[in-house]
Amino acid sequence: MQIVTTIRETRQIIHNASREGKTIGFVPTMGSLHEGHLSLIRRAKTETGFVVVSIFVNPTQFGKDEDFETYPRNLDRDAALSESAGADLIFCPDAGEMYPKGFQTYVEVAEITTGLCGAARPGHFKGVTTVVAKLFNIVKPHKAYFGQKDAQQAAVIEHMVRDLDMDLDIVRCPIVREPDGLAMSSRNVYLSARERNAAVVLSQSLFQAEEMIRQGIRDASEIRQYIASVIQKEPLAQIGYVEVVNAVSLKKVDFIAGQILIALAAKFGNTNLIDNLCIEV
Ligand code: PAF
Repeated sequence: MQIVTTIRETRQIIHNASREGKTIGFVPTMGSLHEGHLSLIRRAKTETGFVVVSIFVNPTQFGKDEDFETYPRNLDRDAALSESAGADLIFCPDAGEMYPKGFQTYVEVAEITTGLCGAARPGHFKGVTTVVAKLFNIVKPHKAYFGQKDAQQAAVIEHMVRDLDMDLDIVRCPIVREPDGLAMSSRNVYLSARERNAAVVLSQSLFQAEEMIRQGIRDASEIRQYIASVIQKEPLAQIGYVEVVNAVSLKKVDFIAGQILIALAAKFGNTNLIDNLCIEV
């Protein structure tokens, strides 16, 4: 596995792999890898011939009061984990390589970035789509892999790819959970032991809601209120949002039918966690 920091070297190595007839798989990350990321790399390894992992803590997707400075960074550990999962190349540029002096072009997806996480994080998805568009142009992957944990991010990127006629497939991979149900996230390391135990309430509330839907409940507000009431019983949790939306448009629904996404965010101390459940009715 090679580790490179420049766009020029990355392009050269990928060009050589393509010339050997290999298809290119791509897993964009901000590092601090966990089993969720590794599942994406392993999946890419089974479906493509040359797997590129980017590790770049992207400044443009963090708000000014968010955790850009403190976001966990450990390149040696991430490189070893990526290699063990099957990565062929790590691209880990610095901010100057990605956003050189004079940079002024952004990619923005409109409507579906306004709700859910976008409502409390203005500019976040503009930063995500800009960096992901740049990374797609650098890596030119046949397939790019994203986790369903960030369901809105995956939907936004699918929209961008469709709207801008980008020539690649987006592959969504399932949420990977801890044994007690907590969705894996790089931000879980911020949680104190008490917050970590409390955070399990998020997945528990979603699993209980899923059971209610399986038993025939179709009123979205009943599901929303139920989830909120479960989370509110946990004193360390502060709800950001609980929404029931169409899984593709991310528009709120009143009645549960078709492909539905139940998405939520809650803070434990200073740590914002998200989780979701996608259900077909
Ligand atoms: O999901 C992430 O880690 C980031 O948002 C991504 C897609 C790597 C863009 O910086």
